[in-house]
Order: sequence, then structure tokens, then C-alpha cells
Amino acid sequence: MADDLIAVKTEIAAKAHVNTDRHRAMTEAAAKDPEGFWREQSGRVAWMKAPTKIKSVDFTGDVSIRWYEDGVLNASVSCLDRHLDTRGDQVAIIWEGDDPNSDVKVTYRDLHARVCRLANGLRELGVKKGDRVCIYLPMIVEAAVAMLACARVGAIHSIVFGGFSADSLASRIQDSECSVLITADEGRRGGRKVPLKTNADDALATCPSIRHVIVAKNTGGSVPMQAGRDVMWDDLCAKQPATCEPEPMGAEDPLFILYTSGSTGKPKGVLHTTGGYMVWASYTHELVFDYRPGEIYWCTADVGWVTGHTYIVYGPLANGATTLMFEGVPNYPSVSRFWEVVDKHQVNIFYTAPTAIRSLMRDGEAPVKKTSRASLRILGSVGEPINPEAWLWYYRVVGDERCPIVDTWWQTETGGILISPLPGAVAQKPGSATLPLPGVFPALVDGEGKVLDGATEGNLVLLDSWPGQMRTIYGDHARFGQTYFSTFKGMYFTGDGARRDKDGYYWITGRVDDVINVSGHRMGTAEIESALVAHPKVAEAAVVGMPHDLKGQGIYCYVTLKSGEEPTDALRKELVAWVRKEIGPIASPDAIQWAPGLPKTRSGKIMRRILRKIAANETDGLGDTSTLADPGVVQELIENRVR
Ligand code: PRX
Repeated sequence: MADDLIAVKTEIAAKAHVNTDRHRAMTEAAAKDPEGFWREQSGRVAWMKAPTKIKSVDFTGDVSIRWYEDGVLNASVSCLDRHLDTRGDQVAIIWEGDDPNSDVKVTYRDLHARVCRLANGLRELGVKKGDRVCIYLPMIVEAAVAMLACARVGAIHSIVFGGFSADSLASRIQDSECSVLITADEGRRGGRKVPLKTNADDALATCPSIRHVIVAKNTGGSVPMQAGRDVMWDDLCAKQPATCEPEPMGAEDPLFILYTSGSTGKPKGVLHTTGGYMVWASYTHELVFDYRPGEIYWCTADVGWVTGHTYIVYGPLANGATTLMFEGVPNYPSVSRFWEVVDKHQVNIFYTAPTAIRSLMRDGEAPVKKTSRASLRILGSVGEPINPEAWLWYYRVVGDERCPIVDTWWQTETGGILISPLPGAVAQKPGSATLPLPGVFPALVDGEGKVLDGATEGNLVLLDSWPGQMRTIYGDHARFGQTYFSTFKGMYFTGDGARRDKDGYYWITGRVDDVINVSGHRMGTAEIESALVAHPKVAEAAVVGMPHDLKGQGIYCYVTLKSGEEPTDALRKELVAWVRKEIGPIASPDAIQWAPGLPKTRSGKIMRRILRKIAANETDGLGDTSTLADPGVVQELIENRVR
């Protein structure tokens, strides 16, 4: 791997919030006096009552994580009200539609009014502090309005990505017993329509907790409305006042739930609370992107993922930024779209995923080079490891070797970025997320949890808490402890493996558990397996990740059919369509191999290590297969591997 250092640019360092000296000083201060450091950083948000207690954390026993616990605030006030005097007429959100001819600019004052109207509407529908509200919306301004309106009335939002199926939506609504669903008639992506309200209606057939559905008009497509349950957003909001008293929230009151996949079982509801999360969102957005007032900032994620929560909505708005929300995709109407949008809106900071970079690389430099991109100052990457080749293309072709790249490592669970270069302070190496942020204490441990020193490789853990850390799994605190704190006692286990080089730089190598990362979308192999075995012709299934040039990882499925069922191409297609319907189009299998048998130990446990190797075509080093009940199945699988 490329180990060459790309030095900090003097012109960036000269004006940066954090230069190398300040980075060192902050890192030392956060280690020496965490209370003092995080007390100072708490000033980033608008408190109704400032906290006096800063940190109370125990990673052992029942696991308890509290930050700023006696503080009182409301996240929407930090994002909106406190900016009204200073930047009420500044654009808060630039919305760029799927159609390149449609865009909208919303000022902080407008956004405040829209949030207040919907918040009043939610109260009229009976929503109170602590109630759960599900949001199933496309990338339209209403998505940000809905999040902030929930925050305003103290409701806990749970956003479900618009690419998830009706079944996935239903199980998430059921798990957190949401009382209201906010959706839209249809979404739009790459010139196609997404039938959100129809999906929602299907889902709601099994969701008795939902009392009301608020439907935003987006495409104007006609959708059925159920009398007494469904209300159009505009009808609900038209009659509401444009101000709304914010609910006072304890710092540890929940702000949102976001479902994410783990190595076992159903997706879990990651719960984030208000005070620490907001401090973390503001701290990391300002430092990592070196955000300066007046700059245009664009994160291409969807609000259905944590990146959209923290780096499209809460972080940028807390910092008074202008944040761009993009409804479309990188290759519609052409593969120059990203760069055309950069020029159109004079974007200064651009944050995207390696999978997008890799797919655009295929089309060469011309679609990039025909645009100016002169406004760009900082580039970011998130969601999966970025291979050095893609990093260098991003750096040279997109950024003209002028813009530092911040490769940001973090997770839904961490609330915000933990490991990343700061552009004015940390020299970069293509493919490395570099160093922890000040106040973050990663370590690499061996299989027994022994902390490893120096240049080494191991399991990535965090030794201490940071304010943006998740607090629990909604409704299942025991699973929280079990999932994250039981593998290595007293440490938060990330599920990732990493290497650390002689300069202390971290290189994330990917998941070491049964989670796969497809185009930056996180999926549990267990979820895909249970979707497959729900098909009437399938007896058994095992799913693993396989290396994929564009997606990072692809989905490789081994399927054993029930006796008497024929393995045909038609059935293969049917199974792909089945999984897409059960989970959503993002979980589309890339390969299905018919497996008359699966490699199992004598106790019946599937040996996934072997299946991963076969899928990756690394069949030379299969390791010890002597514990298998029937070693013969391995040869059969190797011979019939899907290419
Ligand atoms: O494996 C890591 C990978 O994405 C996982 C977290 O996925 P999710 O919770 O969906 O959050 C994605 C957005 C933060 C991690 O466990 N990952 C994320 N960022 C990087 C990464 N792997 C390598 N480098 C990154 N910069």
C-alpha cells in the first residue's frame, strides 16, 4: 500500500481552525483533563440550562454512558433559533433536485418557520415528548424539516431509508412502536419514481401503532389517502403558526433511533441522545471539514443513513453552515453531475463515498475535467475503506492536487467521525484514515483483548467514551452490552479490523464480523439469509461478502434448495427479486451458487471462513477442513463457484 506522506498544505494550515500545533495541544488537553476539555466544547450548542456534570461513563457491568447529564437543551434551537439574529437570511439548505433544472434555497428564517409549523402540526396530532415518529422520505427539504420538527417537540425520530422495502419499513416501525409516519407521495432518483406512499401503505397493514400518516407532496403523483389516518403535509401545516415553543430536553433524552445491521439477528435500533450528540456533530463537522462561515458544504449521503443525520442536518446546521441536499444520483443525467452541481452552487467542501468515486473513475477524466471545480477546498470520503487508487484519482482528478482529502472513519454507533485527518494539521497517506480526533482513544487488541503496541494489526476498539457515542439499543439494553462490550471487557468493540503503521496512522481493513459493506451500505449476512430461507423453495442459505471492484463488497449467496426443487436460471432471478422485495433493492444478491451441501462442523455450525474464501476465489489457503462433517462438499463448492 502507498505509504507516501502528502504534506499539509500551507495555505490550508495558515487559516485552519486546527493546525499541527493546535492538534497536538488539543489531543494532550483532552487526554489530561477530559472534563475540562469537554466542558469547553459543550459551549458549541445552545443550552437552556448549561451542564455542570460533564461525563459519567462505565463500560463494564450494565454499561452506562452519560454526558452533560444535568444540561437542558433542544436540538432544533441549536440548529435554527440561535442563528436567526446573526444569519436569519443566510441560506441554510440548498436543495438540488434529481432534475438538473430544479433547485430551491431555504434560509434559516424560512427553515425555522417550516419546522415550527410542522412541530405544531405534530402536537395537534397528539405527538408528545418521547413518542416515536418514523420518517420515510426521499431527499427533499421536508426530510430535514421533519427531523427538526420531531426534535422541537421532543419526539424521537426513526428514519428509514427510502430504498428499503415495505417489510423492512414495517419491522422498524414495529420495533420502536412509532405512532406517526411521515412520508411522501413518491421519491425520484435517476429519472425514476419510487412509490413511497404505496410501500408505506403495504407496511402499515402490520403496524397497529401508527395513528397518523403525514404525506408530503413531492411528485404530485396520485396516492390513496386513508380517511382519519392520512393527512397531507400542506393541509396540516397551512393553519399552524410559524413559531413553536421548543420542548426542554435533558441532555440524555433521546434525539433519534436509527436501525443498523449487526452480525446476528434483526437490525438494531441505535439510540442517540441530545446533548452529547449535538456537541459531537458540531465539533467534528467544524474540525474535520475546517468549516468556515459562508462556505457551501455538500455531503452526498441520504438522510436515511447516519451520515445524512450528522453531516447533512445536525452538524452543518448547528454550525450555521449552508448545507446542500441532493435528491439525485452521481450518473444522472450524466456522469458529470456531481461536478456540475459543484460549479452551479460553488461548493467548497464535498463529502462522498468511495463507491461513487470508483464508479465515476470508470468513465475517465474527461467528464470531470470539463467542469471547473475551482470552488472546491476540501474533499471527504466515508462509509468504507477507500483504496489508494481511488484516493489518488479523487485527489488528482477531482481536487487537482489542491484539496486535502479527509478519509473519515466512523459508524452509526459512534454518532460522528472518530478517526480522520484534520486538513490543516495532519499529513495524509492515500488509503489511511490517519489519526484519531482529539478526545478519541482507539486501540488495537488481539483475540484475547490484549492491547497491542506500536506498528501492528488487530481488532479496533475504543478505550474510552466520547460525547457522540450511542447510549443503548432501543428496547434492549442487554443486547447493547452483549454486542459492543462483551467481546473485550471494558472496551467498545467496533467490529472492524485495522492496521497501525510506524507513524501511528490507522488503516481500516474492514469488518471482522458477519457484517458486509456493499457500496457503503451496511448489511447483516444473517438478514439476507433469513430473507432467502423465507422463500418456499429454499431449504438453507449462507451469505458472505465477496470482493467487488465497484461496490467494495458484493453479496454472495450459497443456496440449498428443498428436495425436488430444480436449480434453474429462472429460480435464480426469482430469488434475486425476492431478496430485493424482502429487504430492498440495496440488498440485491450479486451471485447465487446452488449448494447441494454447506460446509458444517460436526456440531452443525456453518464454516463461513471457508465460504468467504471460495467466494473470493482464494481456494489455495482454505486452512483446516478436518473438523468438517463432510469435507467433500468443499470441493463441490469450489468447482461450481459463480464467476
Ligand atoms: O467497516 C466500517 C465502515 O463502515 C462501517 C460503519 O457503517 P455504518 O454504521 O453504516 O456507517 C457508515 C457511515 C459512517 C464501519 O464499521 N467504514 C466507515 N467509514 C470508513 C469505513 N471503513 C473504512 N474507512 C472509512 N473511512
